[in-house]
Amino acid sequence: MSNESAPHVKPLYNVKNPFIAKLKHAHDLSAPDAPKHTRHYEIDLAGSGLEYLPGDSLAVLPTNDPALVDATIAALGLTGEETVTHPKTAAQVPLRQALIEGSSLTEIDNKLVKAIVEKTGGESPLAALVAPEQKEELKKYLWGRFVIDLLLENPTAKFEAQEFVSVLKKLNIRLYSISSSLKAHPEEVHLTVATVKYTSFGRERGGVASTFLAERLTAETRIPVFVNLGKGFRLPDAAEETPVIFCGPGTGIAPFRAFLEERKATGAKGKAWLFFGEVSEKSCYFYKDEFEAYLADGTLNKLTLAWSRDQAEKIYVQHRMLENSAEFYAWLEQGAIFYVCGDASRMAHDVDKALHKIIETEGGKTEEEAIAYVAAMKEAKRYRRDVY
Ligand SMILES: Cc1cc2nc3c(=O)[nH]c(=O)nc-3n(C[C@H](O)[C@H](O)[C@H](O)COP(=O)(O)OP(=O)(O)OC[C@H]3O[C@@H](n4cnc5c(N)ncnc54)[C@H](O)[C@@H]3O)c2cc1C
Ligand SMILES: NC(=O)c1ccc[n+]([C@@H]2O[C@H](COP(=O)([O-])OP(=O)(O)OC[C@H]3O[C@@H](n4cnc5c(N)ncnc54)[C@H](OP(=O)(O)O)[C@@H]3O)[C@@H](O)[C@H]2O)c1
Repeated sequence: MSNESAPHVKPLYNVKNPFIAKLKHAHDLSAPDAPKHTRHYEIDLAGSGLEYLPGDSLAVLPTNDPALVDATIAALGLTGEETVTHPKTAAQVPLRQALIEGSSLTEIDNKLVKAIVEKTGGESPLAALVAPEQKEELKKYLWGRFVIDLLLENPTAKFEAQEFVSVLKKLNIRLYSISSSLKAHPEEVHLTVATVKYTSFGRERGGVASTFLAERLTAETRIPVFVNLGKGFRLPDAAEETPVIFCGPGTGIAPFRAFLEERKATGAKGKAWLFFGEVSEKSCYFYKDEFEAYLADGTLNKLTLAWSRDQAEKIYVQHRMLENSAEFYAWLEQGAIFYVCGDASRMAHDVDKALHKIIETEGGKTEEEAIAYVAAMKEAKRYRRDVY
């Protein structure tokens, strides 16, 4: 049955009832000297009955870094043993447990800002930023600050344990595009995750979920997960001749690794072209051996790579699309589906511009006609994006 039309059974697991998975294996995809850290994870689903299709994403319920939790408790002048209501389960638990499992210490709720302004009698710099018209200024002020920064900058704002928990946001799930096919890896789900790290206000910071995965997992760690259906991001039926073009720089490669595994397992008929880009061929050519093997066995017909920092001028995937514009347009005219995954803020926009440019140049179309051509592709579900 086609991936497109397969009835997706109602997921067994959800945010209230996640499957508690364990890590089976992980390895770095980036070299130690790479300017970023990206890692491959293989999560054990044995006995779960959990199913997914390539194009789905996995929701992970992370926990906070205990070192950040302890530092936050110290900044509050509390012990962590105080009993509070768990923000997610409503059970009575020690403050430390509630902060590890239930509350966000990295995103700041307006309730916390308002409480600090009240408790400091308006002396905090936050006082000038709480009015609704200061929303953008407040956002700028909070950029790069964690909850602990506000506590340390406003030492006269004292909180009781329960009161503190009630002015925090709940700790949210994080979604990751699944990078495996169950047909290639039964009872496993693979992820491709960039570890978020940066320095801000003199402190080393880490993304909650990506550092949970990269730094705090042992074979015993409980990883609560469930599947988030990627309804619009599906391969055509394996028996169809429809060509597919995948564009996935950085971690955007994740669903396309899953698609390629699925294509190989199902002997997909249509031809496939993959655009991948990263900073450097030497340090960040993720899944190189797999892609080269797919090229050799015909699972992949064309592989086009863009290394942004291997030369003085940046080369991105959209530059490679434009270099290959005649062939790219020919594939579109043959009915190809164009899939894009990865960074939403810059890449997806620039790739979209390149797509329009190719249609104008190679199709001899005006700007308006190219817009209409892309609109028709979208309407026919031949331009699919999973960007974040
Ligand atoms: C459908 C979907 C699929 C996804 N698939 C993948 C995937 O396959 N692989 C992948 O790696 N990610 C993927 N993501 C992104 C992923 O969900 C997380 O957003 C990402 O891993 C960061 O989460 P985190 O908890 O580690 O970081 P968070 O704790 O959420 O921290 C990230 C936040 O830190 C702040 N920040 C970051 N850098 C700085 C800085 N320099 N200065 C100040 N503040 C900063 C920003 O506010 C940023 O939003 C996907 C997202 C979606 C929606
Ligand atoms: N919003 C932001 O400013 C920002 C910045 C970085 C990462 N992110 C997010 O961080 C996460 C992880 O990123 P990632 O590791 O997947 O990789 P990434 O940061 O998206 O980088 C992957 C490749 O894309 C290149 N790139 C940068 N700008 C591009 C553009 N406009 N068009 C095409 N390619 C471009 C990068 O080059 P160079 O890095 O050499 O330019 C790199 O070679 C994602 O969630 C991403 O959205 C966001």
